[in-house]
Amino acid sequence: MPLLLQATAAFGLEAVVGRELTALGLPPTETEDGRVRFEGEPVDLVRANLWLRAADRVQVVAEEFDCTDFDQFFEVVGAIDWTRWIPYDAAFPITARSVRSALGHVPTLQSMAKKAIAEALCEARGDAPGSPVPEVGPPVPIEVNVRKDHVSLLLDTTGPGLHKRGYRDLSGPAPMKETLAAGIVLLSVWDRERPLLDPCCGTGTLPIEAALIGRNMAPGLQREFVAEGWPLAPPDLWAEQRAAATEAALPPLDSPLQGGDLDRNAVSAARHHAERAGVGDDIHFQQRPIAEAGSKGSHGVLLANPPYGERLGDADTVHQDLAALFNRLEDWSAAVLTPHPAFATMVGRKANRRRKLYNGTLACTLHQYLGPKPPSLTGSPV
Ligand SMILES: C[S@@+](CC[C@H](N)C(=O)[O-])C[C@H]1O[C@@H](n2cnc3c(N)ncnc32)[C@H](O)[C@@H]1O
Repeated sequence: MPLLLQATAAFGLEAVVGRELTALGLPPTETEDGRVRFEGEPVDLVRANLWLRAADRVQVVAEEFDCTDFDQFFEVVGAIDWTRWIPYDAAFPITARSVRSALGHVPTLQSMAKKAIAEALCEARGDAPGSPVPEVGPPVPIEVNVRKDHVSLLLDTTGPGLHKRGYRDLSGPAPMKETLAAGIVLLSVWDRERPLLDPCCGTGTLPIEAALIGRNMAPGLQREFVAEGWPLAPPDLWAEQRAAATEAALPPLDSPLQGGDLDRNAVSAARHHAERAGVGDDIHFQQRPIAEAGSKGSHGVLLANPPYGERLGDADTVHQDLAALFNRLEDWSAAVLTPHPAFATMVGRKANRRRKLYNGTLACTLHQYLGPKPPSLTGSPV
């Protein structure tokens, strides 16, 4: 029987994750705010962890039921065959969240689930009720998620969030999550044949994620996942899929992408991260202000996450410089993520699409402008 799996994602990125899953041959069966469900075999949870770029984590949906009463919750959780998921000696840390539900007290959800699962594991082993479970083996983290009186018991297969690719070890003024950066690249019209410029790239997240996409490099190749210790997805499955992902990487990009920033430290952090991500030769980073940025390339894509707020300087000037840069790049497309209310007016033309996305907790708009298609896509004159 296939597993029911779900990829969680930041609000606004669900459709991107759905498209990524479809490309992996795992079409979504259900999409809701913050999560996309799909079915698959254990190998598919391995592939989803290694390849999904815009998702936060991959979970197994172990069980689901409607419930409004704690006694009933304890009974149903205790009646589940947990030996299918949790080896007897595994640690099973439990987190819980509850939204608009009668089972609203999160600590009670946690402690009841813990007790019910421990008792079920003991009973399955024939131990006396109330015997302690050792919890010394590789962890199987469990999330009790209650939404509108519907309980989902979720096993986290990822561990630290998927944004932790393994290449970032330096911080910058306001780095963006790798999953959000990848989502923006995937929402844009950029592909590996087109130039790309991020004129305020900070620690390099947008161009690095673009280069990884352009080279078909799996974002999870450099890290480990919590499910690597599980009998459900044994080590040879991970090794096999890692080898396949390494094989799938494309050669370096024909022309390097461009990243720029005013801040010298940010530029050197960006170079350092690109090297660590394995795309050091695919991006040219330069210390320069937006006002001096430009490109000789045509039909490129401008991506930017300009500074906003007092901490990051004079946001108006930066946004004006960015709007002017985009207007200089005549046949380019753009995707700019900002909460600045006047950016659209500064550009002076209507965006083709505006999407609400969150950068951390900051509500932003992704302004998307579509330039003309490159001649290779429209049919070039002979
Ligand atoms: C929100 S941060 C970008 C973060 C980046 N996306 C990352 O993931 O690290 C904005 C960046 O704009 C840079 N910046 C501010 N004013 C600038 C200007 N006039 N020209 C170029 N870069 C500028 C800051 O140094 C900062 O690194």
